Amino acid sequence: VAAAPVTPLDLEDVQGLVLRGYGTLRAARYLLLRVGEAAAARSWLGALAGAVTTAERSPDGTAVNVALTAPGLAALGLPAAALAGFALEFTEGMASPHRSRILGDVGDSAPDRWAWGGSAGEPVHVLLMLFAADEAGLAALHGERLREAEAAGLRVVASLDTVDLGDHEHFGFRDGISQPVMIGSGQTESALNTIQPGEFLLGYVNEHGQVTERPLLDAGEDSDRVLPRDGGRRPDLGRNGTYLVMRQLRQDVRGFWRWADEASRAPDGSADQEAMTRLAAKMVGRWPGGAPLLLAPDRDDPALATANDFAYQAPDADGLRCPIGAHVRRSNPRDSLDPNPGTQQSIAVGKRHRLIRRGREYGAAPAPGTLLDAVDDGVDRGLHFICLCGNLARQFEFVQATWVTSPKFDGLHEDDDPLLGARGPGAGAFRVQGRPLRRRHRDLPRFVTVRGGGYFFLPGLRALRYLART
Ligand code: HEM
Repeated sequence: VAAAPVTPLDLEDVQGLVLRGYGTLRAARYLLLRVGEAAAARSWLGALAGAVTTAERSPDGTAVNVALTAPGLAALGLPAAALAGFALEFTEGMASPHRSRILGDVGDSAPDRWAWGGSAGEPVHVLLMLFAADEAGLAALHGERLREAEAAGLRVVASLDTVDLGDHEHFGFRDGISQPVMIGSGQTESALNTIQPGEFLLGYVNEHGQVTERPLLDAGEDSDRVLPRDGGRRPDLGRNGTYLVMRQLRQDVRGFWRWADEASRAPDGSADQEAMTRLAAKMVGRWPGGAPLLLAPDRDDPALATANDFAYQAPDADGLRCPIGAHVRRSNPRDSLDPNPGTQQSIAVGKRHRLIRRGREYGAAPAPGTLLDAVDDGVDRGLHFICLCGNLARQFEFVQATWVTSPKFDGLHEDDDPLLGARGPGAGAFRVQGRPLRRRHRDLPRFVTVRGGGYFFLPGLRALRYLART
C-alpha cells in the first residue's frame, strides 16, 4: 500500500507550544490579561508577535506564547462575523452553564467559585505564557513583558505561578510521558501515537480525512494578504492555530495518600506501604516512576519509566494488569474501544480523541514526611492543566465527559476517574480487577477540584499579526 502523502507543516507559523513543552525551560508563569483599549492592545500584540516562539526550532533561554479567549478577540476588535467562524464551544466559553454540565464543573468546581475565568470574576482576554531556564530568567522576562502590556492598557486578571517538581506531578507520579505527535512534524512516536496534523492544528487534514473547520474570511477582509489562503483562496484565520484548554486543578495530595493508606491496610489495621503504593499506581495506571502497569504489573521498573509503546486489548482485556478505570487507561484507551477492540478500527476511533498535554504544576510540595499527617498544611497546590486540540468538543470535552468523569466508562458502573472524579450520586467507586478476587473500593473522596479555567485560541503567527491590524 502506498503511504499517504505527508503535508508539510508551516512550522515557522505555528507557536512553539504545539510541538514542545519546553522541558528545559524549568520556570514558567501564566499571565491572564484583560484588554483595556482595543487599538493600544492591538499594537501591543503586533509588537509581541515578533517575540513569540515558533515551532521551527527549540528555544534557548526563554520562550513566549500567547492565546486569546473569544471575548478577547472581540475586545481586540475582531468583527462578530469572523468570530462566528470559530467553534461554538470556544465562543460560548468553558464557564457557560451548558459546558459546565458537560465538563462536570458543579458543586465545589462550579465556575461561580473559581479564582479566575468564572462567571463572577473579571473577564479574561489574553493568556500570556512565559518560560525561562530559571527563576531569575523568568523574573526578567516577566518584568519586561508585563511593563509592555501595562503600558498598552492591559490589566492583570491573574498571575499564575508554577513550580518545578522535576518530571513528576503532585501526587508523586511521573507525568508528561504519553503524547501524540503529528504526521509531518518531524517528531517520531509509535504508530498508535502518530496522528494526522488536523487533530492539533487548524487548516490541516484530521483523523476523519477532512480539513478541519476553522474561521475563513472574505478576501476583502485581508487585502494585504497577511493571512495564509485556504484551497478556495479565502483568508484563513485558523490555519496553524489550535484551541488551548486551561484548567487550574487543585489537588488534595494528602487526602489522596491518606485514602490510599486507609484503603490498603492489612486486616489487622496495620499500614502496608507497599500495598498503598500499589493501590495508588492502580489508580493512575503507571507506577510513581512512570512504568506502565500494563508492562510492569507487579512492581515499578526504572527501565520502563517512559515506556509508551503498548496497547491494552490482547495482553489485558480484563484489566488484570492495568485496571479498566485507571486514569491513563480511561483517558487514552488505545485499542480497547468498541467496535472491535484490539483492531486497527478501534485504534482509529481512539485517534479522534487525543490531546497534547502541556500543563505545569503549581504550589509547594508537602514537606517530606507529612503526607499522611492529619493536619492539612493549607497550601493550594495542583496542576495548571493545559491541553491542545483542533476540536474542543470531540477531543477535550469528549475525553473529559465520556471517558474521564463518566461512571459508566467501558462497562464500569459507578467508577469515575479515581484521580479526577467529581464523585456524587452513582459515582465514586474504584474497581480493581483481579483473579481470583477483584476488589471494589467505594466512596472515594474527591481529590481534584477545578479552581479556574478557559478556552483559548492559540493563533498562528500570521493570524496574530492579522489580529494586531484588524
Ligand atoms: C490534577 C489532575 C491530573 C493529574 C494529577 C494527572 C496525572 C496524570 C499522570 C500521572 C499521567 C501518566 C503520565 C503520562 O502518560 O504522561 C497522566 C496521563 C494522561 N492524562 Fe492526566 N492528570 C490530570 C488531569 C488530566 C485531565 C483533566 C485530562 C483530560 C481531560 C488528562 C488526560 C490525560 C491523558 C490523555 C494522559 C495520557 C494517557 C496515555 O496516553 O496513556 N489528565 N495524567
